[in-house]
Formats: sequence, C-alpha cells, structure tokens
Amino acid sequence: MGTDSITITDNRTGKSYEIPIMYGTFPKYGAAIRAADLREIKASEDDFGLMTYDPAFMNTASCRSAITHIDGDKGILRHRGYPIEQLAEQSNYLEVAYLVIHGELPTKAQYDEWVHNITFHTMVHENMKKLMDGFNHDAHPMSMLIGTMAALGTFYPTSKKIGDADVRKLEIYRLLGKAITLGAMTYRHTKGLPYVMPDNDLSYTGNFMNMLWRMAEPRYKPHPVLEKALDVLFILHADHEQNCSANAMRSVGSSHADPYSSVAAATAALYGPLHGGANEQVLRMLRTIGSKAKVPQFIQEVKERKALLMGFGHRVYKNYDPRARIIKRLADQVFELTGKNPLIEIASELERVALEDDFFLKRKLYPNVDFYSGIIYEAIGFPTDYFTVLFAIPRVSGWLAQWQELITDQEQKISRPRQIYTGVAIRDYLPMEKRGT
Ligand code: CMC
Repeated sequence: MGTDSITITDNRTGKSYEIPIMYGTFPKYGAAIRAADLREIKASEDDFGLMTYDPAFMNTASCRSAITHIDGDKGILRHRGYPIEQLAEQSNYLEVAYLVIHGELPTKAQYDEWVHNITFHTMVHENMKKLMDGFNHDAHPMSMLIGTMAALGTFYPTSKKIGDADVRKLEIYRLLGKAITLGAMTYRHTKGLPYVMPDNDLSYTGNFMNMLWRMAEPRYKPHPVLEKALDVLFILHADHEQNCSANAMRSVGSSHADPYSSVAAATAALYGPLHGGANEQVLRMLRTIGSKAKVPQFIQEVKERKALLMGFGHRVYKNYDPRARIIKRLADQVFELTGKNPLIEIASELERVALEDDFFLKRKLYPNVDFYSGIIYEAIGFPTDYFTVLFAIPRVSGWLAQWQELITDQEQKISRPRQIYTGVAIRDYLPMEKRGT
C-alpha cells in the first residue's frame, strides 16, 4: 500500500516533489492535490512556480462542500446525503431549502419557525412596483428578475454586513420569501395585470400561484395537484453543486458583495441557454421539429453540428439525470388534470432515437433536468420565456447555501483565477501618425 501523495519530477531541473493527496467523502470524486502546492515547482529561483491550466474548470475543485453530492456515472443526486428521489417523494420545497442551507432536516419547531419567517418576508417595498413598471411589456422575465433582484438589495443596506450571522439569517428569509413575489411580478407585468400581494395563509408554492393567477376572486385557491407538482419541481431545482450559477454566486459573494447582488449575478448566469435557459430552448426546439416524423432529420442535423439537442448532455452526469426521470413521471400526473401536452410525443421520440444512436451513446449524452420540465410548465399554462424563472426561484435556496458555506469557510478568499499571458511582452507606444493606414 502506498502513501496518499504523488511524486512529481520536474524534468527541467531533475528535482522531485512530494505532494499530498486530499480526499472528500467519496474518494472516487474527491481526490485532489492543492494547486498551490505546485507553486513549489520552479525552473529557477525567481520563477513564479507551476500553475494548472483549466479553462471552464473541467477538472478543478473550487471548494470543499458538504451540500450536494452527484455521482455522474451512476446518475445519483443527494442533498446532505438524502437521495433526491426520497426528497421529491416525501419532503416539500421549504423543508429541502432548510436542509440544503442548514445541513439537517428541521425539527417540527424549527420547520414552523422557518416557514413562518419566510412567509412573512414575502412582501416587497412599493417602489419595486415602479421599478418593474419601467420595463417594456415584452422584456424577458429573466432580465426583469435579474434587474429587480439586484435593486431589491438597495432597500436593505445592512445586508452588506455579510460577516454577521444574524444578518445572513435575516437576508436568507428575505431572499427566499421575496423570490416568489418578484418572480410573480415579472409574470403579471408581461401580462399587463395588476400585481397581487402575498396571501400568507397559503403554502410557498400556493402563495406563488396566488400572486401569478389571482384575478377578481376574493381568495385564490391553488389547485392541489398543480401546487404539489410545482412544489416537486421546486425541490428538483433547489441545488446542483458547483454549476455555472453557483460558481457565479460564490465568485461574486467572495468579494463580500451583498447577497442580493450575488443572487442577481447567479440569476444572470442561470439565464444562459447552456444552463437554466435550456428549458426555454427545449420547447422552442420541440416546436420547430413539429412532429415525430421529423425527429430523425433533426437528430441528423445535431450529428452534423448544425444544432444542439437542447436538454441533453451535462458536464457531470454521464448517465440519465435523476431529476429528468422524476419530472417525466410527474408529467403524467399533471397531464391527467391539464390534458396531454402533444410535445411530449416529440420529446419521447427524440429521447428514444438519441439513446439508440452511437453519437449520443459514445458521448454519454442523456436527458437532463431541462428536457421534460418545460413540457409540464407549458401544460400548467406558463409562457415559454417564463420557464427559467421557475428554475431561478427554487435555486435561490441552493445559491444561498453555497454562499453561506463560502462565507463561513476559513480557507476561502476573494475568487481570483490566474492566467497564462500570451500577448506581446513589451513595446513602445506609437503616436497615431506613425501607425500607418
Ligand atoms: N447536443 C449535441 N451534442 C452535444 C450536446 C448536445 N446537447 N451536449 C454535448 N454535446 C457534444 C459536444 O459537441 C461534444 O462533442 P465532441 O467531443 O465531439 O466535440 C461532447 O458532446 C461533449 O460536450 P461538451 O460541450 O464538451 O460538454 P460540456 O460539459 O462542456 O457541456 C452542456 C455541457 C450541458 C453545456 C452541453 O451538454 C450542452 O450544451 N447541452 C445542451 C444545453 C443544455 O441542455 N443545458 C442544460 C444543462 S443541465 C441543467 C442546467 O445546468 O441548467
């Protein structure tokens, strides 16, 4: 049995260096060396030392985290050790939010306090309405959410005290509470409808539905099947370890910006079509394909690199995304109430054809969370460009969990990568008249 270290020999100098290997809970996914240890490896005394080069963080752990574990080969997702299937089946979104942020499932008293505090922070300042009204009716809901989320921080200047645990606790309540309110306001603004204030007797998702859809009725009653379906979808989107938006949250948070600015940055990262914006693109893709018969032709175009199969592929999963499996089952329950969304036929055929094709098998490309979620959202009645907001709202809990872990991690500092400079070494400034034409 060897020791938990590697020995590197620098062939430039002939010197050898022993570097310790560190592990996480699962050695298969958590074995790493400290990049800073490589700095000892120098070609000469005044050399800066060796760095690692890793565009897009393909193989770099940026933190130690105890929140979420993904086994990409087996298609496993766990929050704080609890399998996503059990959480989706037995828990509810606010309980999962508590779990990812605090590390443990709450007791009854902790849960009641948590739900109460989030529920009673759903109201936003009246001026938020004016801000929202400044957007055009056709502004993208994600752009509105990004802008208003950052603006929300201006109402809470004490949120800048990120080192104070009590301040963080309060801002977590506020951000979780107001996420549904802002999300619903972007929807109402697009529709030209008056904003609806929260009804604090309702559940988190029920209250969200109230703020989305209440019209003239004195009290909005969410349909229990849709309320439950949305809640499960929220659970499935709560956290997903160090993805692009979690990384944005941590990166901006590491400068000690207030959490509203960090959440706005994370929301912006989520908006992109390669990340959370994919759910919107999947629906557009399905509509463009138009029928099951045209699926083989589209798959051919993907293989010829003329298009991406949106909702397929993942940086970490090299197997079926477990969330996609749960969403597919959930779709049947929703369709019993709403009627079947005909796009499910095209999606299922796409999945069938892709999973029999060498191009996808060789690259281990499987449906991800975004492949089937949009089909349910559409059946529930959401417009396509609203889908990513439905991803962002529940992901606020994951971002806050990542942020809290970052702020309390003694090893973390301001996030600041290195670069390998490849530009001109030095040259003298030339006045314009000497630069030629
Ligand atoms: N359609 C066609 N080819 C693909 C796809 C796809 N959806 N995804 C990956 N590939 C190919 C890619 O061209 C590459 O092929 P080759 O090695 O021959 O050049 C190979 O598979 C590896 O892909 P990659 O782009 O190097 O992988 P990545 O880890 O950098 O990207 C991804 C991951 C999710 C950005 C990518 O799979 C993708 O663009 N998928 C479509 C967008 C999508 O569904 N995004 C949602 C991701 S899951 C939820 C979330 O994060 O929000």
